[in-house]
Amino acid sequence: MQITVCLGDSCHLKGTRQVAETLQRLIWENGLQDEIDLSGTFCMGRCRTGVSVTVDGAYHSLSPETTERFFQEQILPQLRQ
Ligand code: FES
Repeated sequence: MQITVCLGDSCHLKGTRQVAETLQRLIWENGLQDEIDLSGTFCMGRCRTGVSVTVDGAYHSLSPETTERFFQEQILPQLRQ
């Protein structure tokens, strides 16, 4: 699974760093380092709704507050399919 976090200025102001750190921590806590590739990218052109994140190309809007829940409810079930 490929997770890409926007590193553009607008998303940065909304908490990209916290979102990325939370994802990184959850990947490690769940032992998913071999299954999830976490990377960053430049502006995705959806600055208004960021923090912009794609999961295998599918767009999602996250915030530092919603990241952990998103991981539990969206990422983990997709990996178990
Ligand atoms: S800065 Fe993230 S979508 Fe533009």
